[in-house]
Amino acid sequence: MFDMIICSQSTERNFFESFALQYLKENPDYNNPAYNTKLGVYSEGCGLENVLLSWGHDDYMYLVLKASGTTLPPAALFIIRYHSLYLMHSDGKYQYLMNDEDRENLKWSQIFSKYDLYSKSKVHVDVEKVKPYYESLIKKYFPKKVIRW
Ligand SMILES: [Fe+2]
Repeated sequence: MFDMIICSQSTERNFFESFALQYLKENPDYNNPAYNTKLGVYSEGCGLENVLLSWGHDDYMYLVLKASGTTLPPAALFIIRYHSLYLMHSDGKYQYLMNDEDRENLKWSQIFSKYDLYSKSKVHVDVEKVKPYYESLIKKYFPKKVIRW
């Protein structure tokens, strides 16, 4: 059997792992030897895009960006899609499922994670002052000027 759990906060990892395992035991495949291998239904290096993950805001935003024709580079989309997968980018798990592109993007994900949770500044931002900068980013990365929610 294979499972991959995405959770929102690193401190909740053990809770989610034990919670998920409790319910996975009720699955009829739990004792099927065909699925009780390290890889389960996957093959070594199959690439994360081919792995079924628990669905959440990460994948939703990834799908929105893709459907909106963003010009963000693949590494940025990878970061967005997997930023809550702490077991991967912070604990080093699931390496055996990654392809070369995943491993390259993982480096960027690990850099990004330093600026994710608990890294917010208390400094007040003058929205009007920074607005032109963010508008230029929107113009650059959303040339269709439409977000498809
Ligand atoms: Fe998030």
